[in-house]
Amino acid sequence: MPNIKTILVTGATGQLGQSIKSLENDYPAYQFVFARREQLDLSDNQNIAHFFQQNTFDLIINCAAYTAVDKAESEAELADQVNHLAVKKLAEIAKQQQTKLIHISTDYVFNGQQYRPYIETDKVQPKGVYGLSKLIGEQVLLESMPNNALIIRTSWLYSESGNNFVKTMLKLGRERDAVNVIFDQVGTPTYAYDLAQAIMAIASSDLFDHTDFTSDVYHYSNEGVCSWYDFAKAIFEFSNIQCDVSPIETKDYPTAATRPHYSLLNKAKIKQTYDMPIPYWKDSLQQCLNALQEKE
Ligand SMILES: NC(=O)c1ccc[n+]([C@@H]2O[C@H](COP(=O)([O-])OP(=O)(O)OC[C@H]3O[C@@H](n4cnc5c(N)ncnc54)[C@H](OP(=O)(O)O)[C@@H]3O)[C@@H](O)[C@H]2O)c1
Repeated sequence: MPNIKTILVTGATGQLGQSIKSLENDYPAYQFVFARREQLDLSDNQNIAHFFQQNTFDLIINCAAYTAVDKAESEAELADQVNHLAVKKLAEIAKQQQTKLIHISTDYVFNGQQYRPYIETDKVQPKGVYGLSKLIGEQVLLESMPNNALIIRTSWLYSESGNNFVKTMLKLGRERDAVNVIFDQVGTPTYAYDLAQAIMAIASSDLFDHTDFTSDVYHYSNEGVCSWYDFAKAIFEFSNIQCDVSPIETKDYPTAATRPHYSLLNKAKIKQTYDMPIPYWKDSLQQCLNALQEKE
């Protein structure tokens, strides 16, 4: 009988955790454990230590995070604990238990003042508490675990589950005749299902699974580029929703956290290293909307 490998997926209730769960049957060579907050609470390092005294894995995919970008401005301590201190603890345990680690980070580690898509080695300078906590999490992970950890920065995640821009727009578009949406923040939406597929393709690749490698950072989003305004227009067009969209500037939609104006990620490194095709954002949006329609 082949040696079944075990994978722990944290943040099982989140968009990415749920998307990885939907792939479980495609990977029979792995035994998955999907941990919710009640089983593994990242706000408590003692709880983390206790969990791993009872359980060991071949791979941890850390999808759990403090993701409330605006709320983080007033909950800096909690954001730091979950996105930095817990990640350090996970990395220390993974190193000690010889477990590989895939950790997810964000385009919000950049300040958004660049004019070409960000590569992994570009200067980081987060604009808010959330981005800073994620950046420090990356840094302590690489320090604590110099080998066998992979950090994937992604952007503008959405899926059928959870709260996200697509679901908010669908709701608003059905309730109202018109909405105002920011046009001066530009990036790429990422369908969590595509990212989940990319993660599992990496996890099961010989390059990742059968070698010891130096820990490193990669960028992944869908292909293409748009503003939130373009994103909203596409959501309504594909869903046949009659709702006018007016472009507004960020300054006319004040939020607690400042976001980067430009956060495109260059994905050349992940595509070349793992020989990975990446879907165009509009194709993936259509796929997500179809899946949502089937659920309704
Ligand atoms: N969403 C985006 O637009 C975006 C963009 C770029 C990068 N990312 C990154 O992508 C990753 C996945 O994001 P996502 O959109 O899937 O996030 P999400 O839907 O907000 O899910 C976050 C998950 O983390 C869990 N969690 C939060 N605090 C926890 C704690 N103290 N202990 C244990 N679990 C906890 C949540 O559990 P509960 O359900 O119990 O709250 C949930 O399962 C994160 O690392 C995020 O930073 C996200």
